[in-house]
Amino acid sequence: MGQGLLKSGFARVDGVMCCEGVSLEQIARDVGTPVYVYSAATIRDRYELLDRTLAPVPHRVHYTLKANTSRGVLRVLRDLGAGVDVVSGGELHRALRAGFAPHDIIFGGVGKTERELAEALDAGILLINAESEREVTLIDALAGERGVTAPVSLRVNPEVMLDTPHEYIKTGGRGHKFGVPYDQVVHVAERIAALAHVKLLGLDMHIGSQLSRIDPYREGTERLASIFHELGAKGIDTLEYLDIGGGLGVRYDTEQPPDLERFAELVLPAVRDTGLRLIMEPGRFVVGNAAALVTRVLYRKHSGGKDYVVADAGMTELLRPSHYGAYHRILPMRERPDHATVDVVGPVCESGDFLALDRELDDVQPGDELVVCDVGAYGYAMASNYNSRCRPAEVLVDGDRYAVITAREQYEDLTRLEIAQPEWTTVEGRNR
Ligand code: LLP
Repeated sequence: MGQGLLKSGFARVDGVMCCEGVSLEQIARDVGTPVYVYSAATIRDRYELLDRTLAPVPHRVHYTLKANTSRGVLRVLRDLGAGVDVVSGGELHRALRAGFAPHDIIFGGVGKTERELAEALDAGILLINAESEREVTLIDALAGERGVTAPVSLRVNPEVMLDTPHEYIKTGGRGHKFGVPYDQVVHVAERIAALAHVKLLGLDMHIGSQLSRIDPYREGTERLASIFHELGAKGIDTLEYLDIGGGLGVRYDTEQPPDLERFAELVLPAVRDTGLRLIMEPGRFVVGNAAALVTRVLYRKHSGGKDYVVADAGMTELLRPSHYGAYHRILPMRERPDHATVDVVGPVCESGDFLALDRELDDVQPGDELVVCDVGAYGYAMASNYNSRCRPAEVLVDGDRYAVITAREQYEDLTRLEIAQPEWTTVEGRNR
């Protein structure tokens, strides 16, 4: 099935934008704006679609928490049987708190601290994706102190050519900071095999994000498979998992996301050949199309020949447009007969604070609501408190019901960690 046919949980019904059976207008009225609204049905649909695509081989889908860490969203995925992929002690904490069992969790990331590695070992997670020889040695020492054997997968940089929409989301090319350089992998694997407290259980890669072509996956998977065979020939036969990362693109505008049938045809044979269990770590694919950000128009402005819509959400709520030049469709909650070409900007004191530039939009007026589409991945997760703005609420819709899953931040939350009466430490002499 091509992704062009994917269903969306969001549609206009009787003139007003709805998420499944609930009007977004009602959520905005009840919960206020800005507000992120998630469609549980869309999350289930995407997870199940990927799960079916991978069905020809033994596999597990480990949802990548960094795309969206909300407990309400994680619970939907946990109930579907997903595993998770975390990249920090904080994400490990969130995954466990959301009810994932340790053996549902893999832990990746280029700069894990000793504390984070210790936490992963103490929790007893499924796999630690190691990225360097030094990290492997540290894991071995920490596991030795605990009298356990650490389950390690080696993140390989497969050094494939990529076509991501932004340089920042390319990761698996030659010279990137991620993974072990391809020509050093066998050496590091041999080191692991020689250590007493680590067991090499997998090979792993993640080549980039918002990918539309299948070829880099095929090439990367074949390169992992070839390392697997080379290791086998050297007598290293402990491997059980082949993790080919995340990165599957979604449709934001007119882009053509990867065709999953072709993905299965081109990628799965190399996996089947190894007899290993396949792991994928999708983030965007699972949640990207599953949310909208509802924001209210505060003002209209004309300046220097430009027409502005000033909304109550901007780069603090959704960073992707200003950080990556990313495109998100923006629809009016209720349509208006006239159109205008506008910049949709937020309230933050930065000229780079925008949701859309030179966008043809209905001629919306102060008080109207806008629906910013496809914000489920890297939306709320990248929201900030800059300008001391409170982060928005998150709402989950399931059929004809909705629930607030993350409360809107309050002013007290902004100052909660500040020490009103700091305790000074006086240092004797000069501290060199
Ligand atoms: N696995 C690893 C090791 C990753 O680094 C990532 C994402 C994923 C899986 C999931 O990738 P996905 O399936 O979501 O493409 N903030 C950027 C995207 C950064 C992706 C970082 N790594 C954005 O808003 O486009």
